[in-house]
Amino acid sequence: MYNLLKGKKGIIFGALNEHSIAWKVAERAHEEGAQFVLTNAPIAMRMGELNGLAAKTGSQIIPADATSMEDLTNLVEKSMEILGGKLDFVLHSIGMSVNVRKGKHYTDPSYDFTTKGWDVSAVSFHKTMNVLYNKQAMNDWGSIVALTYMAAQRVFPDYNDMADNKAYLESIARSFGYFFGRDHKVRVNTISQSPTPTTAGSGVKGFDGFLAYADQMSPLGNATALECADYTLTLFSDLTKKVTLQNLFHDGGFSNMGVSDAVMSKFVDEK
Ligand SMILES: NC(=O)c1ccc[n+]([C@@H]2O[C@H](COP(=O)([O-])OP(=O)(O)OC[C@H]3O[C@@H](n4cnc5c(N)ncnc54)[C@H](O)[C@@H]3O)[C@@H](O)[C@H]2O)c1
Repeated sequence: MYNLLKGKKGIIFGALNEHSIAWKVAERAHEEGAQFVLTNAPIAMRMGELNGLAAKTGSQIIPADATSMEDLTNLVEKSMEILGGKLDFVLHSIGMSVNVRKGKHYTDPSYDFTTKGWDVSAVSFHKTMNVLYNKQAMNDWGSIVALTYMAAQRVFPDYNDMADNKAYLESIARSFGYFFGRDHKVRVNTISQSPTPTTAGSGVKGFDGFLAYADQMSPLGNATALECADYTLTLFSDLTKKVTLQNLFHDGGFSNMGVSDAVMSKFVDEK
């Protein structure tokens, strides 16, 4: 423990169960001295698992559908009341494709599903920052992070319309990050994480193969959810004050690889 977030206050979106990346961020942020509010969609609350995390980290829970400006406004106002002031960090760890869930192929989606998934996975980040910015809810030198995946840059066919949603999300981080930096000295970044066995991750078709392939392509292997949490905390800490408008790969080196020995060996005839 480094006391990296001592005295810092924030909001953590997206902890569903102990596998969630946001769950690990909450546990680690608590260990590093942060205070925060946990939030998730009202429907996710029904599973009840978040109560355990709240008890463990001494946090309160405020349900919010991240596509609802009303819910987000209530969340930010109540969080500032509970935490006794403005916020230092916010984690957006939300993703969902209705087309993936309903088994629709990328080439023939339901566009209502496309719109819904885009709203949940990408526009919700804009809406969240809208409320934070206009309510002047962030302290100077605060930090906002959203999670993304490399399908925003390269083709992963089974990632479906989430690829497009992630490209949009990363663009929002840059565009909103400019105004947040200029006006409030707040940094905005996305972390592009390795495939990770969570509820959202496992929804991708052929996920096990995908996980093994990425692991064997990466010189350091896939990054785990806990390692992602550690990296996220560095971005919330005062050690990264001038890092902003970036899409930061946290993937064991995968994003810069062409091919690895481990993967090549599957295609080479040993005579
Ligand atoms: N798992 C992976 O392989 C992987 C890789 C790279 C990036 N990511 C990203 O990490 C983030 C977190 O996902 P995870 O892998 O921890 O899975 P997860 O399923 O544990 O988390 C996704 C969360 O989104 C929440 N959510 C869905 N709709 C919502 C709404 N309308 N309002 C508020 N919250 C809503 C869910 O309740 C859930 O808590 C997502 O952005 C995901 O795309 C995941």
